[in-house]
Amino acid sequence: MKKTITILIVLAASMIPFVANAAAPKKGKKYVIGMSQCNLGEPWRVQMNADIRKAAESHPSLTVIFKDAQNDTLKQRAQIEEFINADVDLIIVSPKEAAPLTPPVTAAFRQGIPVIVLDRRVLGNRFTQFIGADNKLIGKNAGEWIARHAANLSRVKQGGKARIVELKGLMTSTPALDRHLGFLAGIKDAPVEIIFEADTKWLEPEARREMESALAVHREIDIVYAHNDPAAHGAYLAAKAAGREKDIVFVGIDGLMQEGQAYVRQGVLQASFEYPTGGAEAIENAVKILAGEKVPKEITLSGRSFTQE
Ligand code: FRU
Repeated sequence: MKKTITILIVLAASMIPFVANAAAPKKGKKYVIGMSQCNLGEPWRVQMNADIRKAAESHPSLTVIFKDAQNDTLKQRAQIEEFINADVDLIIVSPKEAAPLTPPVTAAFRQGIPVIVLDRRVLGNRFTQFIGADNKLIGKNAGEWIARHAANLSRVKQGGKARIVELKGLMTSTPALDRHLGFLAGIKDAPVEIIFEADTKWLEPEARREMESALAVHREIDIVYAHNDPAAHGAYLAAKAAGREKDIVFVGIDGLMQEGQAYVRQGVLQASFEYPTGGAEAIENAVKILAGEKVPKEITLSGRSFTQE
C-alpha cells in the first residue's frame, strides 16, 4: 500500500511541470528559456544572443539560459536534451545542422516544451515556430545584383562570360542550400559562369583557404559570391595577399553594422545582403507562447541590402 502511494505521489509530481507548461501563465510566475546557440565564432551569432538578451530584459518574468554548442552537433544535441531534463519552460534553438538536430527538437516538442527554431531549420514540422529570413530570396537578390554587375564587365561586353567563385556555407545547414538555389535562380540567363565552388562551412579561415586554391587555379576571376560576410572577407584577404583584390568584386550576406556594412563602407565588399538575427522576434513570440497565445508556425523576416551605390 505504502509503495502504491509513493508511486502515485512520484507520478503526480512528474506531471506537475507538464501541467504548468500547458496552462496559461500565472501572474508573477517566472519562466526559464533555454537557448542553444550553434556557435559564437561569428559576429552574427554574438549579435543574435545580444538581441535575445536585450529583448528579454524588458520581461522581468523571463530568465534565459544561454548555451554555446561551439559548432559541435553532438554538443548541441546534448544541450537540448539537458534543457528537456531540466524541464525549462521553452527552448530557443539556432541549430548547426538540420538532420541531426531534428530528433532532440522533436523530443522536446512531444514532451510539451514549446520550441522556437531560429535561422537554420530542422526537418519536418515538430516544433512550435520557425523564425528566419527567406534565404532563397536573399540568394536571388544577390544573384540579380551580380548579373547586373556582370553586364558591365568588358569581358561580357566582348561576348564572354563573367567568371564567378561561389563560396558556400555549410551545405548540411538549410541557409546554404537556399542561398545557392536562390543564387542560381538570380543568375539564370545572365552571362556568367561559376568556375569554382566550395563548402566553406560558414568559416572565414576555410573561405580564405578555398579562395587561395581558386586563385592558384584561375588566372581570371571577376566576382566572388560568398554565402556570408566572414567568407567574403576571407576571400578578400586571400586575393589581397595575391595582389589581385582590385580585379575582383566581393559580395557577401549578413550585413551587420559592425561587419558587412563596415566592409562595404571600406570598399572591401561591393555588396552585403542583410540577414536579420530574429533574436528580438524570438523573445516576442516566446512571451506569447508562454501566455498561451497561438502564434504563426512560421515568421519570415525581411532584410535590406547594402551596396557601394
Ligand atoms: C553564422 C552564420 C551567418 C550566416 C548564418 C546562417 O554562424 O554563418 O554568417 O548568415 O550563420 O545560418
